[in-house]
Amino acid sequence: MEFIEWDQKFEVGEIRIDIQHKHLVSLINMLHAGVNAGMNSTIVGNILDELDMYVIVHFTYEEKWMEAREYPEADSHKKQHLELRQKLANFRSEYQHDPDLPCGPLCDFLRKWLLEHVLEEDKKFSAYV
Ligand SMILES: [Fe+2]
Ligand SMILES: [Fe+2]
Repeated sequence: MEFIEWDQKFEVGEIRIDIQHKHLVSLINMLHAGVNAGMNSTIVGNILDELDMYVIVHFTYEEKWMEAREYPEADSHKKQHLELRQKLANFRSEYQHDPDLPCGPLCDFLRKWLLEHVLEEDKKFSAYV
């Protein structure tokens, strides 16, 4: 069983956003599996880099999407995106200084953040698709 199991209820109904969310889920699953399998810190660091880059790709897409539709809750939504990026950036710099830092709490945080954000915030996009 995967760390995060994709479920139809996560679908927003905008194909690119749904594909991007699935990719984020697979990156978090990969990070979790890597940490559990005792992968070396270089590989874990690479997955973190990939995750960080893809989060930017995804948030940029959603933010442009919201702007194009004059989405009324865009400001608070963008704030949540920024908070996650800051949290991820903090973790990455901590991890760069200490590669033995456990990634378990980060995996748990990412799972909770992603699922809550998708279900509570991104889901509201459905009405604007
Ligand atoms: Fe979002
Ligand atoms: Fe999203």
